[in-house]
Amino acid sequence: MTIGRQVRAFAPGRVNLIGDHTDYTGGLALPIALEMGITIEGTRTGKRVTLATDIDEDGCDLPLTLDDPSTVTPSWARYVAAIIDDLRPDKGLRGTITSTLAAGAGLSSSAALSLASALALGFVGDKLDLARVAQRAEHRAVGVPCGLLDQIASVFGQRDHALLIDCTSLTVQPVAIADGADIVILHPGAPRQLATSQYAQRRAACEAAQEIVGPLRDATLGDLDAIADVTVRARARHVINENQRVTVVADAIAHGDWETAGDAMWESHESLRRDFAVSTDALDALVNNLRETPGVYGARLTGAGFGGSVVALTEPGAVPFVTPIRAADGARLL
Ligand code: GLA
Repeated sequence: MTIGRQVRAFAPGRVNLIGDHTDYTGGLALPIALEMGITIEGTRTGKRVTLATDIDEDGCDLPLTLDDPSTVTPSWARYVAAIIDDLRPDKGLRGTITSTLAAGAGLSSSAALSLASALALGFVGDKLDLARVAQRAEHRAVGVPCGLLDQIASVFGQRDHALLIDCTSLTVQPVAIADGADIVILHPGAPRQLATSQYAQRRAACEAAQEIVGPLRDATLGDLDAIADVTVRARARHVINENQRVTVVADAIAHGDWETAGDAMWESHESLRRDFAVSTDALDALVNNLRETPGVYGARLTGAGFGGSVVALTEPGAVPFVTPIRAADGARLL
């Protein structure tokens, strides 16, 4: 018999309705926490974190003191390792990880894993601190210099609401989603490309733009003339336009103005494709297909790009055989 405190922690994945590649320059985003996510349950005991899992045949078995979380195997356990290294718990955990979230679908399974690990390993602090711990884990585990979008979405999730995140003030405003439309997630089936270095390049381009025009959050399209490098200019143009579109969509979904919201989503995809260059042929084909589908108000790639999923806003039932998602509550101890 194992003696120890029982814990059960859940963290959801997220889908971003609009506002991609805006978070790391203090911009706006409008994600939704999903019902699907990652659950870690077990007993706080001993001096190791030993977790069996349904995401992999091998579980993980990690000590409480680690030299370098980024070298741990299996590779998904690097997120757990980075959380251990950050929180330095004095008790281990023996239990299981179960997931209802497809890995590699661009729905933030890694943020969900980090957050569920932190809660299960006894994280103490406020919601923003929790998001930050998971963000640090992402940086340390795999070296992706991500913003806080995924972690905030998973932590602050609220049933039937999208979350208007301001990444400058780090405030979250829940936006009640009006009735009358479906939100669906579609996956083109193509594997996600290795995106770490490309993501870092995009972030660096935005930072280069900010060196010239100041915070992109406050910049206007007119400021772009000062940027000589055409690639950097295009990246900045995406961010400036995308921040605008987030405000438009937040207002539109609150009022059930689906055409307006949908138009901004088509534009966002086009901007991510052309100006930000993070789409793929498979994502473009899927979005083009949805353009031809009656009853689809708008669709776009969601998340970092380089693969992942498409989110669409549709008339009820317009995309057959796909269950619409419902905005759900955030990460928590169960
Ligand atoms: C990934 C990152 C987020 C955000 C999105 C793009 O999901 O983890 O911080 O930058 O890409 O919006």
